[in-house]
Amino acid sequence: MPMATETLADYSLSIDRSPQNDLTGRFRRIRRQTEELCRPLAIEDYGLQSMPETSPPKWHLAHTTWFFETFLLSRFHDGYRPFHPEFSFLFNSYYNAVGPRWARPERGLLSRPTVEEVYRYRRSIDDEVSELLNGPKGRRSEVVELCTLGLNHEQQHQELILTDIKHAFAKNPLRPVYRETPAARGDAPPVSWIRFPQGIVEIGHQGPEFAFDNELPRHRALVHDYLLAGRLTTNAEYQAFMAAGGYQRPEVWLSDGWAAKQTNDWNAPLYWHETPDGWMQMTLAGWRPVVGDEPVCHVSYYEADAYARWAQARLPTEAEWETAAGQPLAGHFLDAGNFHPLATPASDDSGPVYALYGDVWQWTASPYVPYPGYQPAAGALGEYNGKFMCNQMVLRGASCATPRSHARSSYRNFFPPEARWQFAGIRLAKDVK
Ligand SMILES: [Fe+2]
Repeated sequence: MPMATETLADYSLSIDRSPQNDLTGRFRRIRRQTEELCRPLAIEDYGLQSMPETSPPKWHLAHTTWFFETFLLSRFHDGYRPFHPEFSFLFNSYYNAVGPRWARPERGLLSRPTVEEVYRYRRSIDDEVSELLNGPKGRRSEVVELCTLGLNHEQQHQELILTDIKHAFAKNPLRPVYRETPAARGDAPPVSWIRFPQGIVEIGHQGPEFAFDNELPRHRALVHDYLLAGRLTTNAEYQAFMAAGGYQRPEVWLSDGWAAKQTNDWNAPLYWHETPDGWMQMTLAGWRPVVGDEPVCHVSYYEADAYARWAQARLPTEAEWETAAGQPLAGHFLDAGNFHPLATPASDDSGPVYALYGDVWQWTASPYVPYPGYQPAAGALGEYNGKFMCNQMVLRGASCATPRSHARSSYRNFFPPEARWQFAGIRLAKDVK
């Protein structure tokens, strides 16, 4: 557990720059980074759960640890005995094959184990995993494979720790600050439209590096001539949609989207508030003005789709997005420590399409369904991705809360179309007429 004497001045992220073949180093660094993300929290924050879809930081810390204990230590560490007999029930997220579990909406009721005990749990499992990684080389490839999966899982929860605590802090009228960051300024360049030709393209993961099973197999897809916006949609552009009555015009909304807008009384992105001084927003750095040149964020798929229709454009398919994504990984990731999307500088030289990665995940027009020939992993880990392939939409790219080493062009993030608490925004596409 972090020492009470540590201050924000001591706070710095330990960036995962470990060589891919130094698995023990990567394990230590990524596990430590999760705890560093919790360092700005007060003890009272660790148990907060502000809605059924979010989890308390304490639960994230324990659940990621349970993942290593269940899928690595229990299988490969001879004579391993669980740290606590009830932790599998408390910290199993959704694996039916592992056994029964505590209800997700009630994770915030778990005042015990204490935060201190959860950190002891992490220490214990970290030591056991390190011992396993440095031990006899039997079944080495399976150990490496499952440890790597556990680390990628841990990185997914690093992002969730940030999005979930942001949601919880936004419910507090005191508007807590997670971490002070300087208000970044930048000018969004004019939108340029990049043209891509029709053809049969290949999408999906290839190569020896890690990928989740939902990124496989690599396969062919057909794209027609299309244009992709060279940058993300900005707050100013979204405010024009609002000013034009976008939230009052059912003709630009999908039927389900209009129903969600009415049920939830949406009139602006999540965390935006209209004040006499203009639009303000809750950020992880506290209460800030909405900056026109920053990418719009915290919109649902339904809002992204309605905005696109109003703008006489559409959202890209994931095949279109991935075809355009063959440029270096550059952008504002978690590692930068801003935890907020930033305006793309006009000098960004990452490629013709700015901010493909980092800042905000980009909603696509593609439903989250299996690729042709998809095969989930055998056993309980087959539940990791496959059973969610219904009623969700794919998001591409990465966000300001995604670790850079977790991003790649074939990554398929997915959320229900009404979800707004992730760092999700808009990149437009158009047909070539
Ligand atoms: Fe998980």
